[in-house]
Amino acid sequence: MYGNGVLSVRCAAKINLYLGVVGIRDDGYHDIETFFQPVSLYDKISFRRIDEGIELSGSDKTIKWDKSNLCYRAAEELFKYVNFNGGVKIEVEKSIPVGAGLGGGSSDAAGVITGLNKYFNFGLCRNECMEIALGIGSDVPFFVFGRPAIGRGRGELLEEISSIGRCFIVLAVPGVKISTEKAFKNISLMLTRSESDYKLKNLLNGLNRFPELEVETYNSFTVPTEFFYPEVKDLLDLLKMGEGCLFSSLSGSGSACFAVFIEHKRALETMERVMSRGFSGLIVEPVKKTNDIANR
Ligand code: C5P
Repeated sequence: MYGNGVLSVRCAAKINLYLGVVGIRDDGYHDIETFFQPVSLYDKISFRRIDEGIELSGSDKTIKWDKSNLCYRAAEELFKYVNFNGGVKIEVEKSIPVGAGLGGGSSDAAGVITGLNKYFNFGLCRNECMEIALGIGSDVPFFVFGRPAIGRGRGELLEEISSIGRCFIVLAVPGVKISTEKAFKNISLMLTRSESDYKLKNLLNGLNRFPELEVETYNSFTVPTEFFYPEVKDLLDLLKMGEGCLFSSLSGSGSACFAVFIEHKRALETMERVMSRGFSGLIVEPVKKTNDIANR
């Protein structure tokens, strides 16, 4: 344990450079194939020991900081796993937009598992932390895994991959929040596993020779999301047209979209255009880690 001090974890957002939904499983979930890329937009979580229980609070008042919150559930499951009777106060400073397909809630939950494992010296290995993480949500194991990765299965079968090369990414968020559960319900499975393998290979080839080669990305949620949320279609059209945009896509099941640029100046122009149309926008860069632990 870090004395009676405070431990902080920075939890990164992710974008999906590729996302193919390839089948329905017997457990009701879908099999996916995706490229998870962490980016430089962070929530910050701090931990302080208390005598008992889990006290959770956060800076975003639109979020429920109760027992249903992924951070609370992550701490609860971890404490159960290691039979811990002490307590912790968890404070979350949110910067990652909610319901946007940027993995904020999942990243925070992973930060709670890895952060508390370190804070209380539980000594769990990464695989044990990933096992707890999968009980919290399908994307949480990736954030415990910690590196850019190809995810398969529900997203928990992870294979490390090189990060996309240096670039500037405009993240643009429309005012709609999309529930992942509803998004999966609206999907019609038109993509077969072999088509997905082919598309993913194509993308990886493009990224290996990035930025010389054209990068063709794909997201199975684009068609249904554009249909149900016309503002997302407008945003994707706007990003595509940005001068210097190498490729653009929806992230996760939305609603955030992103566009990739080599020149910062071009990224800035597109971000300003996006913001002048009433969307929120920011520029991030690819990073190689999903979380950083610091004690202060
Ligand atoms: O795992 P998580 O709780 O994040 O998933 C939210 C919902 O999204 C699930 O209840 C399920 O309906 C859907 N989902 C799915 N297949 C996945 C991931 C999520 O069907 N691979």
